[in-house]
Amino acid sequence: EDAARAAQFQARIDAEERIEPNDWMPAAYRKTLTRQISQHAHSEIVGMLPEGNWITRAPTLRRKAALLAKVQDECGHGLYLYAAAETLGTSREELVDAMLAGKAKYSSIFNYPTLTWADIGTIGWLVDGAAIMNQIPLCRCSYGPYARAMIRVCKEESFHQRQGYEIMLTLCRGSDEQKAMAQDALNRWWWPVLMMFGPPDATSQHSDTSTKWKIKRFSNDELRQKFVDATVPQAQYLGLTIPDPGMTQDADGHWRYSEIDWTEFKQVLAGNGPCNRDRLAARRRAHDEGAWVREAAASYAAKRARRQTA
Ligand code: ACO
Repeated sequence: EDAARAAQFQARIDAEERIEPNDWMPAAYRKTLTRQISQHAHSEIVGMLPEGNWITRAPTLRRKAALLAKVQDECGHGLYLYAAAETLGTSREELVDAMLAGKAKYSSIFNYPTLTWADIGTIGWLVDGAAIMNQIPLCRCSYGPYARAMIRVCKEESFHQRQGYEIMLTLCRGSDEQKAMAQDALNRWWWPVLMMFGPPDATSQHSDTSTKWKIKRFSNDELRQKFVDATVPQAQYLGLTIPDPGMTQDADGHWRYSEIDWTEFKQVLAGNGPCNRDRLAARRRAHDEGAWVREAAASYAAKRARRQTA
């Protein structure tokens, strides 16, 4: 019976039909989507920290307002994504607890520090640029609630990307010190950004099933290559140098980059990146400090429920 259902399910996927929360789905499909969507949600929430670090130090009121709005957008993305993950049957509390306990992953990129204002420009340009490259295809993911959440997320991410690039353009047209600061930020973020796309295809354990189920439309390496090809001319326009002297352009126009240091990636995933401990500590502190809000909301809801039954 289950084999027949699984075949029917795959036929729906092959026909590009969307799977909705109440539809039958294989347990492994539910599990891998809960994994990916919750990791994605945690990334948005933890991702508020490196940029939040610069809200009080933004160079002008205009920059401050834009950064504040961007960080709020990331929070909103986290909330849509938790809501999408909950439709698969795991509560938000459980998902958040797994993150706070250090058991759930979030993107490696958010374990790096933001040392200067140019890091805020670079995050918008490259981190949000990489996020868009990965997330545009997710708008066509087979799971309806995830695909729909991605549409708005991608619109906001492209605004963030432009905001970051504009900071870089301003710095690169500024003083020598400002341009040097922009180059230094690019030097530090380039390789970690390439790692955002995940391990090479040959070692990506979830890729085969996620591709079969149309959760993934492009492989990790394909998206990484698209990103590099799109970014090289942007760096050239800024007059910045990508910190990869071995980079060459093929006759077909693709930029070949040097070997990525996967040991560093594994270390960051194992909790040993430059900021892993700080990030988790900051999230735990925020969760503890928000306890009174959760208690107040729960007691308000209980009071209203009592009033309605009275
Ligand atoms: N950081 C942390 N963990 C990662 C990363 C990364 N950059 N890349 C891969 N991994 C993890 C995977 O989650 C998986 O771990 P798990 O088995 O414990 O869940 C493991 O490494 C093996 O990787 P894959 O088999 O390639 O995993 P998958 O098929 O899920 O592909 C990818 C990884 C591309 C990140 C996918 O999950 C995805 O598209 N996620 C949605 C996008 C997202 O989360 N973006 C977050 C950053 S963008 C932002 O928030 C602004």
